[in-house]
Amino acid sequence: MDLLSRRRTLLTIGAAGAAGAGLLPLRLLAQPVTASARDVPYVPTPQDVVERMLQMAKVGKNDVLFDLGCGDGRIVITAAKQHGARGTGIDLDPERIGEARRNAQQAGVGSRVNFKVADLFDTDVSAASVVTLYLLPNVNTRLRPRLWQQLKVGSRIVSHAFDMGPEWPPEKTDQVDGRTIYYWTIKEAHKRASKA
Ligand SMILES: C[S@@+](CC[C@H](N)C(=O)[O-])C[C@H]1O[C@@H](n2cnc3c(N)ncnc32)[C@H](O)[C@@H]1O
Repeated sequence: MDLLSRRRTLLTIGAAGAAGAGLLPLRLLAQPVTASARDVPYVPTPQDVVERMLQMAKVGKNDVLFDLGCGDGRIVITAAKQHGARGTGIDLDPERIGEARRNAQQAGVGSRVNFKVADLFDTDVSAASVVTLYLLPNVNTRLRPRLWQQLKVGSRIVSHAFDMGPEWPPEKTDQVDGRTIYYWTIKEAHKRASKA
């Protein structure tokens, strides 16, 4: 099982068990679920997986890459530093965005990248030629209609660890250190389906 899925399963099991046993503090159970609640915990992609994701998408200097849920910015920063791309990273966590901005300055790519505190479900991705994801299966599935609607034909999507469900099988997959990378491109048929 992938690290992220394992962590989420353990958290869910732990929370359910604690709640059942009356151990979970009531104030936590009573927390409202807001529109900007994080959909995915922070777990960074290992650097060798980042590099393979960028190779798989053939990222180059004419690309604009968006990482939705960018964490410390490593995918966007590597795309700029190693492949000459421009990029935007979106994350709901201001601490992660601060870290990503500092990492970009240190890597000398501050002028080619941009990091924003925002909800990925409120983000317009139409400027992207490449979108990278390390989210969760249900988040990918919810994102799919937005990707079909907003991205241009020929845009590439690469996801670490999770696919898009049976409605959108990947065109390619690859394995690095026991982790799966999934790859899709936007076709005319997706644009037509998104307008229907
Ligand atoms: C598994 S981490 C991936 C980090 C980075 N993309 C990487 O691969 O190293 C997922 C990130 O998504 C962010 N996140 C979760 N829900 C989000 C949302 N609705 N909008 C924006 N960011 C979100 C989390 O704060 C976390 O940093």
